[in-house]
Amino acid sequence: MSKTDKVWYPYTQMYNSSSIYSKRVIESGRDFYYIDENGQDYLDGVANMWCNVWGFDENQITSAMIEQIRKIPHSTIFGLSNSKSIELSEKFLKLAKGMDKIFYTDNGSSAIESALKMATQYWSNKGNNTKSIFLSLKSGYHGDTIGAMSVGYVDKYFKKYKKLLLTTRSIPNPCNLKYNDTSEGADLQELLDKTEMVIKKNSEKTIALVMESGAQIAGGVTIYPKGYQSKIAEICKKNEVLLILDEIATGFGRLGNMIEYIAQESIPDIACFGKAITGGYFPLAITTASKKIYQEFEGDWEDQKHLYHGHTYTGHPVGCTAVIENLRMYKENRLIDKIRDNSKYLTKRILEFDKYSVVKNIRAKGLLGAFDLVNKKKSITSINGISTSMYIIKESLKRGVYLRSLGATMILIPPLAIRKESLEKIIDTQLDIVANIEKKVI
Ligand SMILES: Cc1ncc(COP(=O)(O)O)c(C=O)c1O
Repeated sequence: MSKTDKVWYPYTQMYNSSSIYSKRVIESGRDFYYIDENGQDYLDGVANMWCNVWGFDENQITSAMIEQIRKIPHSTIFGLSNSKSIELSEKFLKLAKGMDKIFYTDNGSSAIESALKMATQYWSNKGNNTKSIFLSLKSGYHGDTIGAMSVGYVDKYFKKYKKLLLTTRSIPNPCNLKYNDTSEGADLQELLDKTEMVIKKNSEKTIALVMESGAQIAGGVTIYPKGYQSKIAEICKKNEVLLILDEIATGFGRLGNMIEYIAQESIPDIACFGKAITGGYFPLAITTASKKIYQEFEGDWEDQKHLYHGHTYTGHPVGCTAVIENLRMYKENRLIDKIRDNSKYLTKRILEFDKYSVVKNIRAKGLLGAFDLVNKKKSITSINGISTSMYIIKESLKRGVYLRSLGATMILIPPLAIRKESLEKIIDTQLDIVANIEKKVI
């Protein structure tokens, strides 16, 4: 028996992993390090599920949150308003070009659910009741709630829930294309032609196409070729299919741009944000809607056009405060420039993994890097009788770093404001672990 026995851990085979968890119980944090109850520290190599920006020290975000809690810990926006949600909406819409309204939720999956409901009701409010399915990009991931699983279907994770899911069709994925190809490339054109065929064929019944913006991460790390996303936006527009872009993992600098859809020249109808927007200090997510979408929800009460969606913590003032201060810190620290600088270092050093025969398909953009672990053309899904991902967690913790993999795909996804020497430590640790894997499996 261990003291963690009463916690049901996410995405975890409980029997298998209880010993790993019971050994490391985190009590506090300093700089970019988790500190456990025995005082042992571990460098955060996965940005705390991809939301850690500044590390764990006290800063202006925490101070502003404390000040807000003292004023009022929460104040609902059902029938009232609160000043922080208003202030944040104004600030956020200056960044999210082409968007007109902000809808608040408290996690990425819920931001996606709201987007799906908004898009569905947009058509019914317009009197179009033939649209009933969603299109999604194969191998995308959008969260773990029912709608999010439907449009981000990853067989390995979700096959057990298939009977609950909404009807969707998928468009082909650009994972076999080189991400530094441009839209002039013949292979990309062929993929886009195929995609257009699927969209056109399904357009009458399709509510929206949902895809991650700039890159897919959880479904296997696919960085889109240049020009791909803007062409998809064009095709959707031409065929009267709404475009929902998910920036929950890729926005706010992960790929080197504040708002990825702007960098990709593809203004969506609806966009979702989460994770890093609060610096990882509060569960808050945002769904933004363009004017075209929002105006279909306006009307008198008898019209019943309003969105029937909202959560207890919608518009949470402490969460909104965290985003406001986080945005201030991004600006004051010129974080996007720093990310771009660190990105040069990451994209250069990730090539060092090429010397290992178990490493295939190295790819990187911004502060996201990945490669696949392969032996004799087969993905390395387990090592020493445990899953590769558990093996990586175990081995990295032994070395004072917390790393995870996505199955046989190793990812480099450090906190966004990480200093070069810590980034160096993360990469060196991964190199050491991969060298050991090579020795074990070859
Ligand atoms: C692209 C993307 N969308 C949505 C989500 C779901 O966010 P949350 O875990 O906050 O529900 C994730 C989580 O990893 C994600 O990567």
